[in-house]
Amino acid sequence: MENLYDWRQNYSKSQLLEDQISESPMEQFKTWFEQAQACEALTEPNAMSVASLEADGSLRTRMVLLKEYSKEGFVFYTNYNSQKGLALEAHPQVSLHFFWPALERQISISARTEKLAENISDGYFSQRPKGSQLGALVSNQSSVIPSRDYLEERLTQLEKEYSDREVERPLYWGGYLARPYEIEFWQGRENRLHDRIRYRFDENMQWVHERLAP
Ligand SMILES: Cc1cc2nc3c(=O)[nH]c(=O)nc-3n(C[C@H](O)[C@H](O)[C@H](O)COP(=O)(O)O)c2cc1C
Repeated sequence: MENLYDWRQNYSKSQLLEDQISESPMEQFKTWFEQAQACEALTEPNAMSVASLEADGSLRTRMVLLKEYSKEGFVFYTNYNSQKGLALEAHPQVSLHFFWPALERQISISARTEKLAENISDGYFSQRPKGSQLGALVSNQSSVIPSRDYLEERLTQLEKEYSDREVERPLYWGGYLARPYEIEFWQGRENRLHDRIRYRFDENMQWVHERLAP
């Protein structure tokens, strides 16, 4: 068996100190996200894992793409009937996680989710390339299918059907807004003395931050 015990990085690229951080975690997110976008080694800085609690109490994670962020929270799009869609129906909460190895940073977010207004999902769906729009129609996401051919045939059929007309957003496809109530920023440091700053709401619903032991 391969021995992975000695496989570790020493982190020394940066630091996260109280006198450098923003009062608002979303401002801090913006600073870090823009640095991740500018970092050539990170090809998909907007890829994040989404953990959810399923109706039966089990846990699941998967990656999705962050499509927007604002003071309100974080937006991603998916199939509302997928496994994650059903989980969010039962428990409208997620843990979102970004790991940017080239910057030695992670961000961990706890949030409550809600579906975006239909006109917002319509707006984004209408901007997507036709292939992606048809992909949303082809795929009954997370269901068991007989084969790869089944998907290809269904796509060919839909390409013909929609060759001269626009694809409307199916009602089962749309966005979620994840409204954060806790956000932790983690910067790797030397000798495992990493910087961890956690923002959370205080009793007056104001953001406060505190340092956590690494
Ligand atoms: C980098 C990356 C980005 C992805 N982005 C999305 C996305 O934005 N929306 C989505 O529904 N699935 C996305 N997927 C696929 C999901 O990880 C997942 O396979 C799919 O949503 C079904 O998940 P579920 O069965 O848990 O609902 C992405 C996968 C990867 C690796």
